[in-house]
Order: sequence, then C-alpha cells, then structure tokens
Amino acid sequence: MASDLDLRAGRLRRSFNLLAPAYDFLFFQTTEEVWEAALSLLQPQEGEKILDVGSGTGRLLIALSQLVGASGSVQGLDISPAMCRSAERQIARTPHPSEIAVIPGDARRLPFADDSFDGAVSVLTLELLQRGQTEAALGELSRVVRRGGRIVVASIADAVTSDRPLQYYELLRRAFPLAYFGRPIALRRLAHAAGLTPRIAMRRAFLRLPVDVLLIGVPQ
Ligand SMILES: C[S@@+](CC[C@H](N)C(=O)[O-])C[C@H]1O[C@@H](n2cnc3c(N)ncnc32)[C@H](O)[C@@H]1O
Repeated sequence: MASDLDLRAGRLRRSFNLLAPAYDFLFFQTTEEVWEAALSLLQPQEGEKILDVGSGTGRLLIALSQLVGASGSVQGLDISPAMCRSAERQIARTPHPSEIAVIPGDARRLPFADDSFDGAVSVLTLELLQRGQTEAALGELSRVVRRGGRIVVASIADAVTSDRPLQYYELLRRAFPLAYFGRPIALRRLAHAAGLTPRIAMRRAFLRLPVDVLLIGVPQ
C-alpha cells in the first residue's frame, strides 16, 4: 500500500504535470533573481559536472551549461515527467555548449552513485517535501556531491515577518490544502539537522515571498 509520503509525491507530480505548459509564463520572470543568486553562490567552473534537483522547465540547466562549457555536463532531475518534457523541448531549441540530460526522479532517493557531481543546486523544490523529508533530500544531495564540492539550495523562507505577501500566502495554503503550495521552511536549521553547515546565505524574493539561498560546502 502507498505510504502518505508517496501519496503526497504522487499529488505533487500530478500538480506539476498540469502546471508544466503554463509554468514559464507564470513564474519565469519572478524566479530569475533566485537563479542568479544560486549561480553566484555555486560558481560553476569549466569542465564541472552539476546536478539540478527539481529542474522544472530547465531554464537553470541551460544557464549551468553555459558556465560548465563543452567539457562539463549538466544533469536535471524532476518528479514530474511533464516538467522533464518541457525542459527537453526548451533544451532542444536553445543553444547550449555542454551535454544536458534530464530524468524523472525523486529528490528523496537520487538515482546516482556517491560522489557523482562537483556541485548540485535545488531551487524552490525542498519546501514542497513533507516534514522530515527535506533533511532526507539534503542528505541525498550531500551523498551524490563529491567531498569538497558545493550545494546551493533556495527555498521559500520561514521568516518571522509582518510582511503581507507571506501572510497572504499562508492564508492561501490553508484555504487550498490540496493545491500545490510549498511550505515556508527554515532551510538553515534543516541543513544543520541533516549534518551540513551552510557557509553563505542570501535573501531573495519569489512572488514577493522571502526566499533563502544557501551555499553548503560538502566536507573534505
Ligand atoms: C516550483 S518548481 C521549481 C522548478 C525549478 N527549480 C525552477 O527554479 O524553475 C518545483 C519543481 O520541483 C519538482 N518536484 C517536486 N517534488 C519533487 C521531488 N520530490 N523530487 C524531484 N522534483 C520534485 C516539481 O515537479 C517542480 O518541477
């Protein structure tokens, strides 16, 4: 019988399958500043192998490909097959120097061997996982990134604020519990709970909601 976690993953997959055709139209512009912050922290280098978990419509995969160049490679993974197909279409029509592959998969159980990547990124995805599962996904990121590598994660922040957008967002989340809404999370605390030490943090915005962007070094 499917567990609660798998039921939620199935619901998320279906929501993003439905959202895929409209995703870029709705969210491209508002995500740009988060991608820029993530890239500035990750600092991908020529020849590196980089993973993007929750790669969505593939916009960040293409930007990563420009940075790692022809000698590098980029791997996307997303739970929604429709998002993966959108990414593949986007990749096919945009020039990119490196190899880019996208596969369907779950952030909580990455289908890659230990130490497979120089770096990994996950933008606006960890907050979609159920309580307790974000730490598992962070653990998986650190498992597949080599020692001395870098991880950058960005999620809607569980900020103590009188900020209206975050309050409205909470109201929406409560009013429509079955719809897709990420749960604002304390990313830094969750990283510590997963045994990781964030090195640098930036605050950005997505739909005027606060987003924390963290650089985590994988210990040598
Ligand atoms: C809000 S979108 C962000 C997409 C992309 N990172 C971006 O910045 O545009 C979240 C993405 O995470 C994917 N996702 C949700 N749960 C996931 C999981 N457990 N494993 C992998 N991907 C997941 C969704 O299908 C969706 O494409």
